[in-house]
Amino acid sequence: MKQRVIFLMMVSVAMVRGADFRRDIRPILEKHCYECHSEKAKKEKAGYVFDNLKRFGNDIDPRGVVVPGDVSRSRLFEVMTMTGDNQMPPNGPRVSPKEIKLLREWIEEGALLEAGKAGGGGAAKSGLAARPAVVELPVEDWVSADGKTVKARFVRMSGDAVVIRTAEGRVFKVPMSRLGAASQERAKERAKAAVGAEEKP
Ligand code: HEC
Repeated sequence: MKQRVIFLMMVSVAMVRGADFRRDIRPILEKHCYECHSEKAKKEKAGYVFDNLKRFGNDIDPRGVVVPGDVSRSRLFEVMTMTGDNQMPPNGPRVSPKEIKLLREWIEEGALLEAGKAGGGGAAKSGLAARPAVVELPVEDWVSADGKTVKARFVRMSGDAVVIRTAEGRVFKVPMSRLGAASQERAKERAKAAVGAEEKP
């Protein structure tokens, strides 16, 4: 236990914390989207509300408006970054590059509404049967180059760093060079498996 804490403190120097829904994402939606997509404002354009997290959570699904882990299939991300008739918000200031970056990170890291808890679970707006939003890999031991261990799940690769999430929902980016050989190998395997799974029809 003590060792694990030390490892986290040590590596967090080189790690960047992932995007957190409450801290980073909700303010963006509030600023740019709630005006027309919120229960509080009584505006549910196209049937989407982003302030009732239970309802929003139902649209965070492989067939929903946010596809966990896949920005390119997330319509919510697309409408913010496109220009033209369907862009969101339809007028007024665009979502800034900094905000876009946070959204991208949040979606890539699994689009969790609450740290450590996969979103979705209910019926998507489309009425299609819901599937678990994120196929969570098991919690595994990740061992640093100097032999310290942390328990976390593989999330994805980010350049030359592996993104892992602890059971408590803390997200860390660990440069591969900071990991021991066995953990580096496993990161590569996990990354390959993730790509393989996406390629299946
Ligand atoms: C000023 C009002 C307004 C704001 C602000 C707004 N929307 Fe919309 N949104 C609409 C309207 C109206 C529609 C329905 C458009 C249609 O069906 O042609 C819509 C539809 C949508 C759709 C579904 C349509 C599609 O093309 O897939 C999504 C997703 C969406 N909005 C996301 C957002 C997001 C994300 C934001 C904030 C970045 C946002 N909207 C901000 C008015 C707004």
